[in-house]
Amino acid sequence: MATNLKWPSVLGLLVVAGMVGVASAGNIAVYWGQNVNEGTLADACSSGNYAYVIISFLSTFGNGQAPVLNLAGHCNPGECAGLASDIQSCKSQGVRVLLSLGGGGGNYGLSSTDDANSLADYLWDNFLGGTGSSSRPLGDAALDGIDLDIENGNSAHYDELASALKAKDGGALLTAAPQCHYPDEWLGPALQTGLFDAVWVQFYNNPGCAYAGGDDANLVAAWRTWTGGVRAGSFYLGLPASAEAAGSGYIAPGDLTGTVLPAIQGVGGGYGGIMLWSRYYDVLNNYSGQVKGSV
Ligand SMILES: *[C@@H]1O[C@H](CO)[C@@H](O)[C@H](O)[C@H]1NC(C)=O
Repeated sequence: MATNLKWPSVLGLLVVAGMVGVASAGNIAVYWGQNVNEGTLADACSSGNYAYVIISFLSTFGNGQAPVLNLAGHCNPGECAGLASDIQSCKSQGVRVLLSLGGGGGNYGLSSTDDANSLADYLWDNFLGGTGSSSRPLGDAALDGIDLDIENGNSAHYDELASALKAKDGGALLTAAPQCHYPDEWLGPALQTGLFDAVWVQFYNNPGCAYAGGDDANLVAAWRTWTGGVRAGSFYLGLPASAEAAGSGYIAPGDLTGTVLPAIQGVGGGYGGIMLWSRYYDVLNNYSGQVKGSV
């Protein structure tokens, strides 16, 4: 028996080694939807550069308001159902498509537990696997999940929204885009639920916890704090896709792959890849194309 086990054991080790190799390779997530010159959602997905494309934004919701999409020049709110075929195309290529709530502008906030629960019901029926709506804003394609990019208002009741969404059948993904200052002013309590599948921390427009002038010490320290302080499926380094994409925080592709990624991967578990703001700037700078082999 011992000799019979020998070869399967060696093969088993090779298989395990191969799986470790795959698991350590990171993914790229990108935000799409805020600039009409970035091209279509289907083109973003068929670039082959992204594992996640995050439609941005559902920028009006809560406080009893009817939720409203803002996809800049891509389509007027109420006239975006044609995106369903793009979403299906993305999904057929294995790209996960999410809808992001919030953003830097907009008019949103949750006023009560009931407000959180009714928004979860709305999202389920209008964007995810639910069947309770006859007027789905992005058509009848079911998105893979919901992203929270809460950047104004207050932090109340997003933990309840997260719990209500996770309680729906169908395993919709839940992700979030906090700022790198820990804890996040708006998403801190929600992230403490431990319910998020991926957290893409925004290491831009945040002097003090981001990359600056070739120095990654603040970024690495913040990465350590985030990955140690929050329980989540994985963490992504959120970056500007070009120097013009944000006021600060841009990391040249060579510095990212040569210095910064090895440093944060050395911190320990939880690394999932990078997130880019945004598809528009990525098209201009080909950032994902330059780094994807090393993410
Ligand atoms: C992006 O960069 C990669 C790597 O240098 C290159 O192979 C690819 O052709 C570039 N794509 C575009 C559209 O320039």
